[in-house]
Amino acid sequence: MHCALILALTTAVTGTLRAADPTRQQDAAGQQQAPSPGQNSAAACRETAKKLPQLGKDPIREVIDAMTIEEKVHLLVGAGTSATDLEAAIIGQTRKLVPGAAGTTFPIERLGVPAIVFADGPAGIRISATRDSTAQTFYATQFPIGTLLAATWDTVLVRRVGNAMGEEVHEYGADVLLGPGMNLQRNPLNGRNFEYFSEDPLLTGKIAAAIVNGIQQQGVGTSVKHFVANNQETNRLNNNTIVPTRALREMYLRPFEIVVKEAQPWTIMTSYNKLNGTYTAERADLLTTVLRDEWGFKGLVTSDWLGGVNPVWSVQAGNDLLMPGLAKQRDSILKAIRLGTLSLHDVDRNVQRVLELILRSPHYAKYTFSNTPDLKASAAVARESAAEGMVLLKNDGTALPLPAQARKAALFGVTSYDFIPGGTGSGTVNSAYTVSLAQGLAAAGIKPDKKLQLAYESHIAAEKAARPAPKRWWAKQLRPQVSQMEVSDAEIARLARTQDAAVITIGRISGELLDRIVSTDYNLSEAEHRLIERVCNAFHKAGKKTVVVLNVCGPVETASWKARPDAILVAWLPGQEGGHAVADVLTGKVSPSGKLPMSFAMRYEDDPTAPNFPHREDYDTVTLHESMSTNHTLPDTGSKNLDYTIYDEGVFVGYRYFDTSGKEVSYPFGYGLGYTTFGYGGLDIARDGDDYRITCTIRNTGARAGREVVQLYVSAPGKDMPKPAKELRAFARTGLLQPGADETVTLRVPAASLASFDEASSSWRTEGGTYTFRVGASSADIRLSGTADVEAACVETVHPVILPPEKLPEPGRPQAEQ
Ligand code: BGC
Repeated sequence: MHCALILALTTAVTGTLRAADPTRQQDAAGQQQAPSPGQNSAAACRETAKKLPQLGKDPIREVIDAMTIEEKVHLLVGAGTSATDLEAAIIGQTRKLVPGAAGTTFPIERLGVPAIVFADGPAGIRISATRDSTAQTFYATQFPIGTLLAATWDTVLVRRVGNAMGEEVHEYGADVLLGPGMNLQRNPLNGRNFEYFSEDPLLTGKIAAAIVNGIQQQGVGTSVKHFVANNQETNRLNNNTIVPTRALREMYLRPFEIVVKEAQPWTIMTSYNKLNGTYTAERADLLTTVLRDEWGFKGLVTSDWLGGVNPVWSVQAGNDLLMPGLAKQRDSILKAIRLGTLSLHDVDRNVQRVLELILRSPHYAKYTFSNTPDLKASAAVARESAAEGMVLLKNDGTALPLPAQARKAALFGVTSYDFIPGGTGSGTVNSAYTVSLAQGLAAAGIKPDKKLQLAYESHIAAEKAARPAPKRWWAKQLRPQVSQMEVSDAEIARLARTQDAAVITIGRISGELLDRIVSTDYNLSEAEHRLIERVCNAFHKAGKKTVVVLNVCGPVETASWKARPDAILVAWLPGQEGGHAVADVLTGKVSPSGKLPMSFAMRYEDDPTAPNFPHREDYDTVTLHESMSTNHTLPDTGSKNLDYTIYDEGVFVGYRYFDTSGKEVSYPFGYGLGYTTFGYGGLDIARDGDDYRITCTIRNTGARAGREVVQLYVSAPGKDMPKPAKELRAFARTGLLQPGADETVTLRVPAASLASFDEASSSWRTEGGTYTFRVGASSADIRLSGTADVEAACVETVHPVILPPEKLPEPGRPQAEQ
């Protein structure tokens, strides 16, 4: 919209949507009066005699008018469970319709309104695998985690993953998949980063749009989450994220803006945290002004499960649906309607959005789902995408692919056998199996040493058997890591003599409720360091190669040990087909072409957000979760990063910081090797309508077929405001190029996307001057560059909303009263 015009509208729109509803009674002061429930039910009774309006057959307005107040309130609050049944509410035990799904809406049969089903989550549909009533199983495919999908940088492939996920949602009878997760990976310790895509907003937004389009193509919905700035699990229900406006617009809102504009998700899920002082579920400026008025969102807003504290404020803000639904939420809303403190206009507006969602759903269409999705086809997509998203960090002396004569391998590390397919919490999937690395390699003709395998398997079994059963609901969600097994020098020497190569797997899992810690999670443990050192020494002495496979939920420290092995492959948490996919890459069936969607710092402490992220080693986890599960909030300790977290790094997150400050990293954003090499040439930068069109030619200069991920970074003059040294503005992945073959790649950069957010004028402004366009194989490996003269422009003025408090709590000091 034009800058001046929107400025004029600002004050009018940022207030609220309280237009009088002509169909409602008004009191003397002009306040809308709700008909009493009695009046309404009487009306409903009279109407049964007449023909009742039916959803989809009659105008939606008539259906709403025929509802009792109680029915309206039921529609705004999920069918849920009892208030005390917290475990069921959180982890999803909706026994009706689709057992194990996360929740349902409330049906109103007399008006033709069916219940619809919401099911987690980002790595595939999460439902119960078995049911009491039948011997049939309902396993779903565990796809690779979001981070791995982003590491493919391949929107076409990710859309196909979405198609496969969507088919399972449809055939298992759910209506909306609660994913993808798409918060920015602000800090590497966030326990849920694995569900998310990247530290970069463009990559996040584009991959999210691809998967949403893929899922929704199957006739089911998505719920992109968690809106917004939900970047830590510690005290997640109460933490107040304090985000400067420029960072909020450029980094945290931007991915959601892209997904809304490019994929129109059926629903969006608000987050648990407060944002600049108010719960996201209770912010009209976020949910109405930005999401709907500025971006044109047409779908429904749902809360996260039990998110927000005041249901009435949520309704008013345009958080249309409260899930999974509690009786006390219905009571508060009903009471507020009766008291006249909640207008029926707001209620009806949200009811309408719930009905519009239901109208699009398979349940409304009475779709006869089969309960037999094509799991075989999905497994193939899971395997293919998993291999394509693995990132080769190191490959000295062409250790990989393993030579054809390598038939025997020593597999070290507990996760070679107890392989981790995905994270914990709602992002998990009840899949029929997980192919471990040992199984994957064996199937590819590389035999794991049997004696070593048996020793590891009994160590894993013994440790699991000795674990006390988790007592609390949240503890059941966690999957504690099995400790490393001690392998003797003599055994390592035997294996170095008898085996063709060594593979050492390092595993990391994380998930809802708990952030990662630095000491033995981001950093390798002493036992892991010693394992890598001893195995590498012994195998190298015997002239054999060593490979480290990182079966991880996110970055780990690599700088201190990366010199030891010959090759390092980041396999992430690659889903149920993980072992096959790793084997595909190790044997060379697939040439790796994944690139890091985040930076791997030299040390955790180098991360610009480290001072402003909970140091969980300081907090007592049990107390944190006990308080959370009983009264929803923690006692106010006024402590930084627990009660509140300041994003004072601004837009300088990830490579935007490392690059600009010149801080060395272990592996840069966008980095990844393959089994071949690529030459870049023929750069052309031209203005084409509203875009810059950048073309270049990529040639396979190596000896094996492979794909290249081509990245375009743009550097702005940076005179008007501090700018990152460069920012990702476009990317593309080539097709499979045979040796000597080339492909001309075209990248488009909308001129408007060069703008930065100017807080003083609340507008997106493009600074005039010479911009450098850099095309590279990573953020640090720029192969071609050229310039373009860009004219200064005010691209768009937006509402000055969601502002941080004027006085930020000072870092390190207890927070003043909020
Ligand atoms: C999570 C959501 C999830 C929901 C339903 C919440 O705890 O934060 O991501 O979709 O539960 O299981």
